[in-house]
Amino acid sequence: MTGGAGFLGSHLCERLLAQGHEVLCVDNFFTGGKRNVLPLLPNPRFELMRHDVTFPLYVEVDAIYNLACPASPIHYQHDPVQTTKTSVHGAINMLGLAKRTKARILQASTSEVYGDPEVHPQPESYWGRVNPVGLRSCYDEGKRCAETLFFDYHRQHRLRIKVMRIFNTYGPRMHPNDGRVVSNFIVQALRGEPLTIYGDGSQTRSFCYVDDLIDAMVALMDSEDAVIGPMNVGNPTEFTMLELARTVLALTGSRSTLEFRPLPSDDPKQRRPDIALATETLGWQPQVTLEEGLAKTIGYFRTIVSQ
Ligand SMILES: NC(=O)c1ccc[n+]([C@@H]2O[C@H](COP(=O)([O-])OP(=O)(O)OC[C@H]3O[C@@H](n4cnc5c(N)ncnc54)[C@H](O)[C@@H]3O)[C@@H](O)[C@H]2O)c1
Repeated sequence: MTGGAGFLGSHLCERLLAQGHEVLCVDNFFTGGKRNVLPLLPNPRFELMRHDVTFPLYVEVDAIYNLACPASPIHYQHDPVQTTKTSVHGAINMLGLAKRTKARILQASTSEVYGDPEVHPQPESYWGRVNPVGLRSCYDEGKRCAETLFFDYHRQHRLRIKVMRIFNTYGPRMHPNDGRVVSNFIVQALRGEPLTIYGDGSQTRSFCYVDDLIDAMVALMDSEDAVIGPMNVGNPTEFTMLELARTVLALTGSRSTLEFRPLPSDDPKQRRPDIALATETLGWQPQVTLEEGLAKTIGYFRTIVSQ
């Protein structure tokens, strides 16, 4: 697994070990860290390797989950050239590894491939509306190019690919300072600071709890070879930023106020997955409600945020 020491990766490592697999976790620790996989280190079936996926990797594996890539704007805009390289060179290197070892390979793609969509909710057949030259392009276009590479390796070299388009996911071990809305609100609420709302708070997002996402990721990897995606995975229940802020305040018991700031450039106004394909093909549907998931996430942040 690449990016295995990150937020989603660490949960996936845990799940695969629990299923009895051997896991090689490859990460350059840019946004992830050893702390996320610390409890897994004593497991003899777990191995942690510091490696940057923009360089080739020679190991023996039978399945590859390619998650390496900073996922939040603050981190992926820190070094945009490296972000594109991670997506594009990383995909080429991992696809090369899959080709040599004949491994199945799953790409953690993103709802950002739809850009600021004119179609709502977004089915996989929608091609998106992405700015190729903006501040978010290093991530959005990098991920789009990675999808292209996956499909071309499939057509040209018959690789067994799986492309999953992940919509906003949250849960324990999210980075506390990455500017993503769920972690932002929780950290601000726990510190008693104002909750920052961009725009008027009427823009909507859908949030998937990490356990649900991992269920789908493993099910997609284990699906028959004909299932290649792209496949949306996320929670289709939509909330406005204002609703999310109020729920976080209620669950933390915080007295924080709300502070309104201008919308950042290219921020999509609305995003919600059409998950019909995942439900039909994998029999998958999210199970965890926003209140349940937020309560678990808040429990985690209470242990790491000084109040
Ligand atoms: N969390 C979400 O809501 C979400 C949504 C859509 C897509 N995704 C995708 O899922 C994947 C995991 O996201 P996450 O939320 O866990 O983010 P994360 O930042 O916590 O994890 C990414 C991991 O990749 C590692 N990494 C970055 N560049 C690397 C490189 N060049 N070589 C090796 N490792 C590298 C980081 O150190 C980190 O451990 C990413 O590819 C992301 O684009 C996540």
